[in-house]
Amino acid sequence: MDVDKILDLFKKCDFTHTNCDTVDEDVLNYLPKEFDYDWRTGASKLVLIPCEENYVIKLPFKGNYHYFYDENEQFKTFSIPGLPALHEFDHCAEELKLYHIASKYHTSQILLKNIYIGEVNEEPVYIQQKAVTFNEYYDSGDEDYFDNESVHTQEEIESMEKSYEKSNVYFVGDNSKLDTWLTDVHKYYGEKQFIKFLQFIDSYINDLHSENIGYIGDRPVIIDYASFYG
Ligand SMILES: Nc1ncnc2c1ncn2[C@@H]1O[C@H](COP(=O)(O)OP(=O)(O)O)[C@@H](O)[C@H]1O
Ligand SMILES: [Mg+2]
Repeated sequence: MDVDKILDLFKKCDFTHTNCDTVDEDVLNYLPKEFDYDWRTGASKLVLIPCEENYVIKLPFKGNYHYFYDENEQFKTFSIPGLPALHEFDHCAEELKLYHIASKYHTSQILLKNIYIGEVNEEPVYIQQKAVTFNEYYDSGDEDYFDNESVHTQEEIESMEKSYEKSNVYFVGDNSKLDTWLTDVHKYYGEKQFIKFLQFIDSYINDLHSENIGYIGDRPVIIDYASFYG
């Protein structure tokens, strides 16, 4: 689909009050019947996953979790070179900002980039390369626990832990899924880059969980890196 065709999908939708509880009545019911897609929501975006494409379409909510946007509310805007003014509510724009910062620290490879493609009915629209979430990759949906040793050798895990200690950051705790993903990050990118990523994540990202991290092929990535203040 070209950009105009993507934007056109949403011409009958009203995004003014859309949040994760209202996506059916505001958006999904008004999409063209022939558009073949799957969808997800988190707290801050509606994500459409076209079956035939290698990208997803991201539509940020104006409010936050279960929160209805008040039209009188004035949101601040900010600018990124080359783009129109972006709104502070817009978690995809927040990610663009963070991506820009990560580029300076040479850590942007771990982030899945958002591409702003325009606006429809006052809603900013983004696309992002289609990924496989951690839960899909390891088929580990409902369980909180995931056994790192079932997919990595003892040596790989110890090697990751050694590098982790060198980084002087302490955000993992006993999250076994994150541990598994970090072992993949360490294997894929190597120790030097791994330590840089940890330090970047520690400073800027606060909501890493198994639906916000994933893979493109075997490359580990962060899908959702906007901070969650819900
Ligand atoms: N690039 C992507 N590829 C595949 N699935 C995605 C992608 N981006 C988001 N998703 C799915 O949509 C969900 C919500 O997207 P996310 O960016 O995490 O929004 P939120 O900020 O609302 O949590 C994710 O948890 C994931 O399941
Ligand atoms: Mg998310």
